Amino acid sequence: MAKTAAALVVAAGRGTRLAAPDNNQPKQYRLLAGLPVLTHTLNALAKHPRISRIVTVIHPDDEGLYHEAVAGLPRDRSKKLLTEVFGGDTRQKSVVEGLRALSGENCDYVLIHDAARPFVTTDIVDRLLSSLESGADGALAASQVADTLKKSLGDGKPLTTIDRTGLWAAQTPQAFPFDRILDAHERAASQQRHDFTDDTSLAEWDNMTIRLCEGDPGNFKITTMADLKRAEQQAKIQGMSDHTSVKTRLSELQDIRNGIGYDVHAFDEGEAVILGGAEIPHTRKLKGHSDADVVLHAITDATLGAIGDGDIGQHFPPSDQQWKGASSDRFQHDAIRRVSDLGGRIAHIDVTIVCEEPKIGPHRDRIRKSISRICDIPASRVSVKATTSEKLGFTGRKEGIATLASVTVRLPLPEDE
Ligand code: CTP
Ligand code: MG
Repeated sequence: MAKTAAALVVAAGRGTRLAAPDNNQPKQYRLLAGLPVLTHTLNALAKHPRISRIVTVIHPDDEGLYHEAVAGLPRDRSKKLLTEVFGGDTRQKSVVEGLRALSGENCDYVLIHDAARPFVTTDIVDRLLSSLESGADGALAASQVADTLKKSLGDGKPLTTIDRTGLWAAQTPQAFPFDRILDAHERAASQQRHDFTDDTSLAEWDNMTIRLCEGDPGNFKITTMADLKRAEQQAKIQGMSDHTSVKTRLSELQDIRNGIGYDVHAFDEGEAVILGGAEIPHTRKLKGHSDADVVLHAITDATLGAIGDGDIGQHFPPSDQQWKGASSDRFQHDAIRRVSDLGGRIAHIDVTIVCEEPKIGPHRDRIRKSISRICDIPASRVSVKATTSEKLGFTGRKEGIATLASVTVRLPLPEDE
């Protein structure tokens, strides 16, 4: 069976070398492509299928910043996060706290990583894990030193050149069998050795044999303001704020749009209706080419309306046989993709269902949660209301269900507006 892997992200430092008089926020919470550096780092690790758990070690003063940073992660990734723990006054002490927090999690391997390296790649993680799988005591992402190295002995003294053959610059992640590295860390702590600046130097001290793995020159650590600027350029080139990988914060999306949608489906012989993706028992079903989910259809039209991108019938013609019986969340997922392609997100959905029967009240919460799940937004950003039409018209005669939807979409504000 494949071994399980956890990640430990150290984020308890103060970033003193980057602090500026006008902004002394620790570097791991500074914005990069519109999101905190830590959000990118956690996202990059959480998207790796082999990493099933992540613990972040934070400074006690940063709890609020941490919670904001993780709120930007897609839900399927944030669910890998364990409760954060507080670090110590050196990196090594912070790592020990993270290892102790992971000790009940039954992980075979742990990858220890700096929060300040947001460009860690899936390939690096793959290389580290395969080194451990082939029996190494530890594996280190590193890049071969390319510059000529000079040693200065002080002003006025001649420079000397250091032979760079065999020299590598250590990066993180650094990966280890979990029990072995916890043991080494506990031993170092019990011998009052708190001065190791990375985990492989501590492991070497404990006689572990470490294997070098090719890192990535792009996987640099943000240490100074110049690094943060370089990171911003690299993020732009890589399309890092791409909505498919991380959600842009709503506050960054200042072009606020609203769309409306309306749909009607007639009743037919059947035993349940599907509203907002939730099955509601009834003495009839709704007639339609797809699953006739009148609520999702209205939401999809409202979503398309907010971005001025046609309507559901244009993208999914009823005449097209491939949509026969289709589950309507596919239509809404397509509309959400169109919003994402513009760099936007759905901020709110409000729905009014018009019918005499079935009674919506008892099912309201289930419908709300289902819409929230399909649209990947919190349920607090979804509203479901219902009304009768006082026995008037086709809904009043119980011939079908009508739904009105209003969807708020937030997009980046174009530079020229
Ligand atoms: N770190 C930590 N606990 C500490 C010190 C550092 O968790 N007591 C973390 C940092 O948050 C960072 C990583 O270890 O992600 C590497 O450390 P470094 O780059 O030195 O970060 P800082 O110590 O925050 O920066 P500086 O040295 O400039 O103050
Ligand atoms: Mg430091």
